[in-house]
Amino acid sequence: MEEKIPTHVGIILDGNGRWATSRGLKRSEGHKEGFETLKILAKYILKKGVKILSVFAFSTENFKRSKEEVDYLMNLFIKGFKGSISEFNSNNIKVVFSGRKEPLSDDVWNAMKEMEDGTKDNTGGILNICLNYGGRAEIVDTTKKLINKVINNEISIEDITEETIEKNLYHDLPPIDLLIRTSGEVRVSNFMLYQMAYAEMYFPDTYFPDFKESEFDKALLYYNSRDRRFGGIKK
Ligand code: FPP
Repeated sequence: MEEKIPTHVGIILDGNGRWATSRGLKRSEGHKEGFETLKILAKYILKKGVKILSVFAFSTENFKRSKEEVDYLMNLFIKGFKGSISEFNSNNIKVVFSGRKEPLSDDVWNAMKEMEDGTKDNTGGILNICLNYGGRAEIVDTTKKLINKVINNEISIEDITEETIEKNLYHDLPPIDLLIRTSGEVRVSNFMLYQMAYAEMYFPDTYFPDFKESEFDKALLYYNSRDRRFGGIKK
């Protein structure tokens, strides 16, 4: 049988800290390695024919971590984004971000904008990085956006359907087909709630920095073993 390739894959990048401490390293080393893994994976997954890869890099709740860890991650975002625009361009990957501005610093925000602008013409697949992101917050922001459109007579109440909500989320992306959370945790933790309604879910024990190409192939095998019915009956 022909291999089915999901259109949209979501990954909750979990286990960087445990990957590092299990090797006697600082947690920050795990985040650094996680970023390297993310670049390798994005290349591999989008070359396989997946159109969109969404990843949960930093949740609104992650600001509750120690100042040292948050500062490290913010600096990694700034340096990592600025330093990898050309790498994403050579791989024809368009990078977009999902999430709120506040309380991100202007330096982080500008690095995100530079990355989006610098890769906007690429056509080989989309890497959607969810940063300072929450799934419920996205639904709240979309609700406000739609109410404003109604107030400004751009749409009527009757125009609000499941499709218009989908189109007015942070980005107009198709639903997630395959959701992966690494490190053995079995939770969705407020990630892309609206987009995930019928996603197949895969929870490998592997820590994210070790989740490289062959691990994704296993996820794809799992996906291919699933019988997706979207609430219908088995044919
Ligand atoms: C979860 O592992 C990971 C994070 C909170 C950060 C994710 C960040 C990266 C993969 C690196 C940077 C990414 C980009 C986009 C530059 P954890 O810290 O919760 O690990 P633990 O559960 O083992 O403590």
